[in-house]
Amino acid sequence: MTILAMQTEAQVVELSILCEENYRVRLNCEELAQQILPGQFFMLRKPGGSDPLLGRPFALYDTVLDETGRAVGIDVGFHVVGKMTGIMQKLSPGETLELWGPLGNGFPAIQTDHLIQVAGGIGYTPFVATSREVLMQKKYGTDSERCRIQAEKASLIYGVREKRFCADMSDLSDINGLDIQLCTEDGTAGHHGLVTDLLQPMLTNDSNESKIVFTCGPIRMMQAVAQLCEKYNTECWVSLETPMACGFGACFSCVVPTKQTEGEWDYRRSCLEGPVFSGSEIFWEQM
Ligand SMILES: Cc1cc2nc3c(=O)[nH]c(=O)nc-3n(C[C@H](O)[C@H](O)[C@H](O)COP(=O)(O)OP(=O)(O)OC[C@H]3O[C@@H](n4cnc5c(N)ncnc54)[C@H](O)[C@@H]3O)c2cc1C
Ligand code: FES
Repeated sequence: MTILAMQTEAQVVELSILCEENYRVRLNCEELAQQILPGQFFMLRKPGGSDPLLGRPFALYDTVLDETGRAVGIDVGFHVVGKMTGIMQKLSPGETLELWGPLGNGFPAIQTDHLIQVAGGIGYTPFVATSREVLMQKKYGTDSERCRIQAEKASLIYGVREKRFCADMSDLSDINGLDIQLCTEDGTAGHHGLVTDLLQPMLTNDSNESKIVFTCGPIRMMQAVAQLCEKYNTECWVSLETPMACGFGACFSCVVPTKQTEGEWDYRRSCLEGPVFSGSEIFWEQM
């Protein structure tokens, strides 16, 4: 079923801190919450003004359910990097944000033994919902689209620069069965090193289990993950965080170079044909 993106004003319910410079804002927006799928995104903008002029894209962190189990709102996890996230960091309950979505393709329907999710920094935000979906804790979207992501087990490899940027994992730690492996570049928590150090043994273990990798984070991290997956012949899907102006295919500000047949390449709009692409489809050297 095709769902059209809606534009609405969403009311802020609460703002909480995830870790240094990272926050979670809860928004009331029932219609979007009932349709959005893990890996899809929406655009947020301050209503009634032109500063900032353009909306900014954010991934679904999770849906919020009422006491009857109906989706009535969404959570947005964000890292303060600029103008809009600077505004969001100061939101109070009752204020509103202009929102349009759901947008983009979301993670694909897959079936595998082991789903390995690899996140860098704030790139872990889409994996709260994917982890809940794959471990059957929660359903997303309309009935016809439910439980698109299926696996016997799920892991999350999560890398940050240093411990103080490591998000409060309580939103993930109640997901029964999710294997979480942390690494820091400076060794202040978890494995001292990069996400690829932890991914490699998972891709090369002797088990006969099938594996699929989802990844989101800094572009060079995703490139390294995609290249490692290619080396070990493992399907890999990357969720790109390309800057976007409109979010629905009209402005071409979000194009990414993708490989075409016979060595050619061409641009694809990340907001429309993405933000999730096959890792082998991206022309990484041109990114
Ligand atoms: C599909 C998708 C999903 C996303 N999901 C999330 C999410 O869940 N959470 C999240 O936090 N982010 C997410 N992002 C990224 C987010 O949209 C961007 O970080 C967004 O630009 C933040 O808006 P901003 O106005 O705060 O930053 P902007 O003002 O747009 O700044 C963006 C970048 O430019 C730099 N910059 C800004 N001003 C200057 C300056 N004067 N000089 C030099 N550099 C400057 C900033 O440091 C920053 O790196 C997502 C992106 C996409 C495409
Ligand atoms: S953001 Fe406008 S075309 Fe993609």
